[in-house]
Amino acid sequence: MIGQSPAMQRIFRLIGKIAPTESPVLITGESGTGKEMIAASIHLQSRRAHLPFVAVTSSAIPETLFESELFGHVRGSFTGATSDRVGLMEHADRGTIFFDEVAEMPLSVQVKLLRALQSGEVRRVGAKESMRVDVRVLAATNRDVKKALADGSFREDLYYRLNVFHIEIPPLRERREDIPLLANYFREKYARVLEKPVVRFNERALMLLVRYDYPGNVRELENAIERAVTLAEGPEIKPADLPPVIREPRQPLLHTGSGFPYSENLTLAQLEAEHIRRVLTHNAGNTTKAAKSLGISRSTLWRKIKEYGL
Ligand SMILES: Nc1ncnc2c1ncn2[C@@H]1O[C@H](COP(=O)(O)OP(=O)(O)O)[C@@H](O)[C@H]1O
Ligand SMILES: [Mg+2]
Repeated sequence: MIGQSPAMQRIFRLIGKIAPTESPVLITGESGTGKEMIAASIHLQSRRAHLPFVAVTSSAIPETLFESELFGHVRGSFTGATSDRVGLMEHADRGTIFFDEVAEMPLSVQVKLLRALQSGEVRRVGAKESMRVDVRVLAATNRDVKKALADGSFREDLYYRLNVFHIEIPPLRERREDIPLLANYFREKYARVLEKPVVRFNERALMLLVRYDYPGNVRELENAIERAVTLAEGPEIKPADLPPVIREPRQPLLHTGSGFPYSENLTLAQLEAEHIRRVLTHNAGNTTKAAKSLGISRSTLWRKIKEYGL
């Protein structure tokens, strides 16, 4: 997993501590922030690493089949149950089970899941006996947990059971220092996969990547880089190879009120670009005055105006 931001470094340290335990972990974060990847990484750093890792994606399972998917069923227990079936909990026995989108799980199933976790036993639908299962439980949601609890879609008792440890992954736009690292990681990955010698980003392409907000987080960045490597015509990724939303930001770089909108998440390039933009505005676009005020030559200023697309 890639990440040099303090937030991700903290998460990696936390994973190192909690992975070897048997405790449940609840992972929250927007879609595409890497929740499933973190779950897999906890499993791989645990004592159960060589045993199954079973991911259960709530949205992918129809409500009527959920219980049988999770706990299995015996033949004839309902129409369509033509043979015995092993549920996902049993599949995960001795390993790790990961409930993705846990707040989307039907409430009736949340109740049964909680009961199974508390007792350490599952009963196949239609079966008389329960059986013991030994699973490490991880769960994730991209919902606002407080809201999901308040509107009743995530049962509070199940939440307390799962939330022994909580990992909150910040959106990519709040840890922009990870963007160049991830971008290069994905560039190398897709250069290899697509067998194209794309060896770098040009400066402006990287600047555009860093300043974009990524509503789809790391997944969106990865898709953008795959596309860029596909389109690249030489050894370098250029702005033209980036998706239009990243290439042509409609928003100004920063929302500038009266105060200076400083944030720890800015790169030096962003800060510089924004400062130049403000000084240019202040001098009504007069580059001679702006350059003087900035303490740089007019040609340097022009170069930067071009570079940052101001
Ligand atoms: N820190 C990271 N380093 C490398 N790849 C990442 C990282 N975070 C996310 N990804 C990649 O981004 C994509 C989305 O991650 P995923 O775990 O599916 O997110 P989520 O479950 O939060 O929607 C995956 O292809 C994953 O490999
Ligand atoms: Mg996911």
